[in-house]
Amino acid sequence: MKRPYVIVNCAMSADGKIALPTRKQLRISSDEDIERTYKLRNECDAVLVGIDTVLSDDPKLTVKAKYVKNPKQPLRVVLDSKCRIPKDALVLNKSAKTLIITTMDHKHIAGEHVKVVGCKADVNGHVDLECALELLYRKGVKKLLVEGGGTIIWGFLEKRLVDDLYIYIGPCVVGGKTTPTVADGLGIKREDELITLKIVDVSRLGAGILTHYKMIQ
Ligand SMILES: NC(=O)c1ccc[n+]([C@@H]2O[C@H](COP(=O)([O-])OP(=O)(O)OC[C@H]3O[C@@H](n4cnc5c(N)ncnc54)[C@H](OP(=O)(O)O)[C@@H]3O)[C@@H](O)[C@H]2O)c1
Repeated sequence: MKRPYVIVNCAMSADGKIALPTRKQLRISSDEDIERTYKLRNECDAVLVGIDTVLSDDPKLTVKAKYVKNPKQPLRVVLDSKCRIPKDALVLNKSAKTLIITTMDHKHIAGEHVKVVGCKADVNGHVDLECALELLYRKGVKKLLVEGGGTIIWGFLEKRLVDDLYIYIGPCVVGGKTTPTVADGLGIKREDELITLKIVDVSRLGAGILTHYKMIQ
């Protein structure tokens, strides 16, 4: 299967949480990590999130010129099986191109900057990740940045579709049994299903720690 190089990037608290217990956005990254993330975004051909991140955070997913001179604005990709994206979502604004990958045939949000493409569904009725990656590769996406949330990251990890994983650990604790974490979804069932990683680098960044892993296939 021909697919893009997949980089996952995410910021978590010391207890592994990536948002507030209400699922609302929480700033965990330091200024230095925010700058690193914008630079990483700009190096990639596309930035991908799940629809629930769009619904909870309403991100623009663009690269700010404050951090990167003449940003190239990678393609914004939303995995949205049932086409739940609101028409006024910021990710649909004209600052960059956007691709909605869905399993349904809803073209109501398509426009000059926004394309909606159909993809097969997986056994759970979500966008099939391998199919989505093949589709992106055919569209010229050779390097893909996956930014979350926990359900989508779990999906990529579970299917072993991750090459690099960057986790920024902020010096804070959020708590909460159902607070989103880096990898949600169903998790593994048995110890022999453990998803193993290799540590490439660990460094201090601002007030926190940046960890860089590679996935052991
Ligand atoms: N700290 C950080 O770095 C960071 C970054 C991003 C987000 N977040 C936080 O993460 C939270 C949102 O994460 P989340 O886990 O609730 O949602 P999510 O991962 O953003 O989106 C999950 C949704 O994506 C859709 N989807 C499409 N294809 C899928 C597939 N193959 N597998 C799984 N899902 C698929 C599903 O809805 P359909 O079936 O309807 O398509 C699913 O409900 C928010 O609280 C946000 O603030 C934190």
